[in-house]
Amino acid sequence: MIIGIIGGTGGQGLGIALRFAEAGEDVIIGSRSLEKAQAAVDRVKELLGDVKNIRAMTNPDAAKAADILVLTVPLEAQKATLLSIKEGAAGKPLLDATGPLESCIGGSATKYIDLPEGSAAERSQAILPEAKVICAFNNISQTWFMQLGEPIDCDCLISGDDQAAKDLVTPLIEKIPGIRVIDCGKLERACIIEKITPLLIGLNIKNKCQFGGIRITGLDRGRVC
Ligand SMILES: NC(=O)c1ccc[n+]([C@@H]2O[C@H](COP(=O)([O-])OP(=O)(O)OC[C@H]3O[C@@H](n4cnc5c(N)ncnc54)[C@H](OP(=O)(O)O)[C@@H]3O)[C@@H](O)[C@H]2O)c1
Repeated sequence: MIIGIIGGTGGQGLGIALRFAEAGEDVIIGSRSLEKAQAAVDRVKELLGDVKNIRAMTNPDAAKAADILVLTVPLEAQKATLLSIKEGAAGKPLLDATGPLESCIGGSATKYIDLPEGSAAERSQAILPEAKVICAFNNISQTWFMQLGEPIDCDCLISGDDQAAKDLVTPLIEKIPGIRVIDCGKLERACIIEKITPLLIGLNIKNKCQFGGIRITGLDRGRVC
């Protein structure tokens, strides 16, 4: 499986690319600029050594070449970026990390923006109806991804309407040490998952840290009555 990180030159995309490359997966870092994508690949190689399983492409080429896509751009770039990969994304799982945060319109990153579609992931699905959009990676900070060698102490809450696509990406995401995937159901659940992100950002600010995350407990204990 080839993983294409669309907008993989920013903090979140680079971190996810780093961890998938470390796990031995074939990774493409996508960007609007091939030079910028190559600089991000060079950065990963600085951190991992001269690995061969990561390369640079423009976003449209990355979408065409990859089997699974990860979208890591700010909300304000979401629509234009998705339209630029429309052809390549058709029929493929697209893991959407987009955070609908008020900071996208000059406000606070601790506040959520209500979108007419219900969530950023549902907005992605409306823009690219032929992609299999899965809300993912919203609640894990780039700081965690960049701690190479350290298991990530976070669950990855996902939601999406295509069960086969979720079943395909779950073992892949869990190749990143420490992460457990929790399938939260249909894509309409994305608004709940996305709302946890500004909560975590606020907790990070309050506690002067960058590692705030979430674990769901008790799911394997069965019922008592
Ligand atoms: N950072 C985190 O810890 C974190 C955690 C959870 C969720 N998220 C979400 O993940 C997404 C990415 O976060 P990030 O911090 O990595 O974002 P970022 O660094 O601001 O941007 C990521 C990439 O998106 C592209 N981009 C930025 N502005 C653009 C524009 N106006 N038009 C087109 N492309 C643009 C750029 O790629 P090129 O210039 O190379 O094309 C940029 O390198 C966001 O939606 C965020 O809410 C982030």
